[in-house]
Amino acid sequence: MSTFRALLVEKQDDGSFTRGVVERSVDDLPKGELLVEVAYSSLNYKDGLSASGNPGVSRNFPHTPGIDVAGVVLESSVDAFAAGDEIIAIGFDLGMNTPGGFGQRVRIPAAWALARPEALSLKEAMLLGTAGFTAALSIAKLEAAGMCTDGGPVLVTGATGGVGSVAVALLSQLGYEVAALTGKASQHEFLKGLGATTVIDRSELSEANSRPLLKEAWGGVVDTVGGAILFNAVKALRYGCSLAACGLVSSPDIPASVFPFILRHVNLLGIDSVELPLTQKREVWSRLAGEWKIDGLDALEHPLTLDTISDAIDTILAGQMVGRGVLDLNA
Ligand SMILES: NC(=O)c1ccc[n+]([C@@H]2O[C@H](COP(=O)([O-])OP(=O)(O)OC[C@H]3O[C@@H](n4cnc5c(N)ncnc54)[C@H](OP(=O)(O)O)[C@@H]3O)[C@@H](O)[C@H]2O)c1
Repeated sequence: MSTFRALLVEKQDDGSFTRGVVERSVDDLPKGELLVEVAYSSLNYKDGLSASGNPGVSRNFPHTPGIDVAGVVLESSVDAFAAGDEIIAIGFDLGMNTPGGFGQRVRIPAAWALARPEALSLKEAMLLGTAGFTAALSIAKLEAAGMCTDGGPVLVTGATGGVGSVAVALLSQLGYEVAALTGKASQHEFLKGLGATTVIDRSELSEANSRPLLKEAWGGVVDTVGGAILFNAVKALRYGCSLAACGLVSSPDIPASVFPFILRHVNLLGIDSVELPLTQKREVWSRLAGEWKIDGLDALEHPLTLDTISDAIDTILAGQMVGRGVLDLNA
């Protein structure tokens, strides 16, 4: 089929952005070595930013967002892939200024694609998607910095969101005691079902304060929100422990001092899933398909179609998404 359905975000003359599902032609797609029939994509916060015209994410409109793709190669001009191969692709420029997974076809460089790990279906790969990948990358970096299961509870912020919910589930499965920070009073049971031992209301950590240190509490932190919450968590890290920072839904700015670093020997670790070299991406995916394969991943699924994705984008931008939105391009 040379035409396909896609969500298209358009910039209007008054500077506003509108979105709708349209028919596109494969000739509209950019050059690239792989033409892929997208089976599944997933909804990440960054897709919300792209779909609402955030210039830090997408500058070229009209545009189809979707930073995650799992699908089948239709055409390949490289030896590494052949028609019929199942691949996953996350990050790089996919869905930023290159048309992404909210359309039934993408054309991408082969250097963005990984063969689907055998133990993950295309749908499972997208249940994880960039969010699940980032949760795993954060935990891997925290463990490389010394985090271990007898080092005290691990705090996950933005816990009901995509990165947060996978982090809670994975940490719990790995034997960690997990404290989940959430703004959603209605989702405490959901978080306990994922394995959180304690659920903390977001308001308890969201106020910036001038105290240089807080009582030692956390053996590690996966932070998806930034802002005052991030630094309150740093101030409460146990001696020598680390926080992995991946997100900014609360704020990109941090009210910080050097005290936790020079008095408690703690570490602030940066997490980037986008430009991480493909070899390192492959290692994280193999872990997620192997010893870190998450039981009961289905509990996180929020099924989406091209007809429901626009409403879901509004939900994620409002901070109200729970778990992982999985977009079935054939539904
Ligand atoms: N560095 C990377 O490579 C990378 C990769 C993936 C994602 N990210 C970033 O990580 C963040 C989370 O992404 P996601 O896809 O998981 O988003 P998401 O599904 O929307 O989850 C974010 C969660 O944060 C909480 N939250 C929302 N607004 C908040 C606020 N104002 N203050 C504090 N908490 C708030 C909510 O959870 P509760 O209601 O439970 O608190 C929300 O569900 C985003 O900033 C995203 O850009 C970065």
